[in-house]
Amino acid sequence: MKKVIAIDGPAGAGKSTVAQLVAAQLKYVYIDTGAMYRAVAWKILQETTAENVTNEFITASINDIDVRLSYIEEKTKVEVNGQDITDQLKIPAVNKLVSQVASIGQVREKLVDLQRKMAKDGAVVMDGRDIASNVLPNADLKIFLTASVEERAQRRFKEMKNKGYAVALNELKTDIAARDRADMQRKISPLVQTKDAVLLDTTAMNIDEVVQKILSMAKN
Ligand code: DC
Repeated sequence: MKKVIAIDGPAGAGKSTVAQLVAAQLKYVYIDTGAMYRAVAWKILQETTAENVTNEFITASINDIDVRLSYIEEKTKVEVNGQDITDQLKIPAVNKLVSQVASIGQVREKLVDLQRKMAKDGAVVMDGRDIASNVLPNADLKIFLTASVEERAQRRFKEMKNKGYAVALNELKTDIAARDRADMQRKISPLVQTKDAVLLDTTAMNIDEVVQKILSMAKN
């Protein structure tokens, strides 16, 4: 049976790494919803400077945005108005702006609509913050993936370093904690663990252990 798997959790918990591996094993499509919010933030930063971004500016800016997410040969590609911006989604300026972008109702409505359309045929693994609670409340398997702030900052630090970005670990930790707060406290679709979600704390788990655990649950 083609299932729908929802993976939610805070920034840096390893959702996208794990979700991609699970999707590859099951031959499902992986949908990275964070990348869609990041794409909107990226577009805004092309149009104005970070200091000048207001909620009104963001709302106006999404009128002419075409965000496309494709998943081909186990790779996610993100395009904004025809431009491939996949490699630019995790830059610090986008990290800083994305929570504000994701707190705006009109942005969420537009992206959630797209996300539901992408999942309608099943056989998908979708990750984000509100997948189980809002985007796909009927998902067959709901996972809430988390890890300590310290561990999540370390993981992101390694990831950024490998990509050639020089960032301070402490700064990453502060950023992650701020993003957790913003994501959990926002009015619209905050990050929550739903009652029917399975909690997986990965602080002391390696990627393979997490993937195997999810696969075993998906097979039941
Ligand atoms: O998973 P990520 O770090 O790429 O997500 C980027 C931001 O987008 C994060 O701060 C919260 C927001 N987000 C959201 O509000 N809802 C989602 N379904 C996915 C991400």
